[in-house]
Amino acid sequence: MKIAVIGANGQLGSDLVASFSEKGNAVSGLTHADIEISDLSSVAHALESIRPQVIVNTAAMHHVENCEREPENAFAVNALGPRNLALVARDLGAVLLHVSTDYVFAGSKGSPYLEEDNPRPLNVYGITKLAGEHFVRATTGKHFVVRTSGLYGKSPCRAKGGLNFIELMLKLAKERGEVRVVDTEVVSPTSTAELAEQLVQLSHSDCYGLYHATAEGSCSWYEFAREIFAITDTPVRLKVAAPDEFPAKVPRPKYSVLENGALKSRGLNAFKPWQDALHKYLGNRIKSASPQICT
Ligand SMILES: NC(=O)c1ccc[n+]([C@@H]2O[C@H](COP(=O)([O-])OP(=O)(O)OC[C@H]3O[C@@H](n4cnc5c(N)ncnc54)[C@H](OP(=O)(O)O)[C@@H]3O)[C@@H](O)[C@H]2O)c1
Repeated sequence: MKIAVIGANGQLGSDLVASFSEKGNAVSGLTHADIEISDLSSVAHALESIRPQVIVNTAAMHHVENCEREPENAFAVNALGPRNLALVARDLGAVLLHVSTDYVFAGSKGSPYLEEDNPRPLNVYGITKLAGEHFVRATTGKHFVVRTSGLYGKSPCRAKGGLNFIELMLKLAKERGEVRVVDTEVVSPTSTAELAEQLVQLSHSDCYGLYHATAEGSCSWYEFAREIFAITDTPVRLKVAAPDEFPAKVPRPKYSVLENGALKSRGLNAFKPWQDALHKYLGNRIKSASPQICT
């Protein structure tokens, strides 16, 4: 199939390009230099020349504090962007797979959120991403809207800059010997490599609709850090941060665990427990750091 991946050099986009290519698809990876999703003419120009059968959108403005400071830009990218993509996808007869977020929920349910649960975003990022979901669902029937959470991958997240959570923990442990992490936010940390495999599988089906797609199980950021240090045998003093130690500048959901209900009910769920994907990520990290032995 002909696939266009938008945000191709991002954390998730780069793994999607690799996964779709490995499965023998013809992939056009579009970076921000190739397409501006908030501009309908740019979207039409970029996609009409490719005429893909599937358009995958990972592009977003998702630095939460920046969204709060610049709500109009956040709306243009996170809401009007997916709308533009849905309009052009509909004209081309293409399927649109759009990536959304656990931040559409308030985090007060106390048990994993299902696709049927009512969203109630707490911040501009969540509000604008939810608007994007509505635009896609109202514009084209041939859509997958996929909410995910707590991403980490071998390419850094471009919007947040710097290191992913795992790399940051390992760096801080090495530099400081002591690390303090909050245990008040519970998520399902999800590997972009595993998510990409799932999205490739989903995009080859015609089970259109709204999906949750995260690793199985959940943990606080503190528990995630504890597992990272245990697997890597890192000598570090890990402590729970005091409640007021890292005050959040923007309200965030405390518990945003998603249940992959729609994937499971259709027999499509390929996710394993979050610990398995973390082991794999850390194993690959060691392999890529080992010197190659030439014989
Ligand atoms: N990261 C997470 O933990 C997380 C959690 C839940 C959901 N999500 C969702 O997952 C998706 C992918 O996240 P990610 O971590 O892979 O993001 P990322 O690394 O920041 O990648 C986003 C990509 O989109 C491009 N982009 C940004 N604005 C654009 C625009 N207006 N037009 C065209 N391209 C644009 C970026 O290019 P430039 O950098 O050059 O601008 C970048 O290549 C996002 O939709 C996000 O909302 C992420």
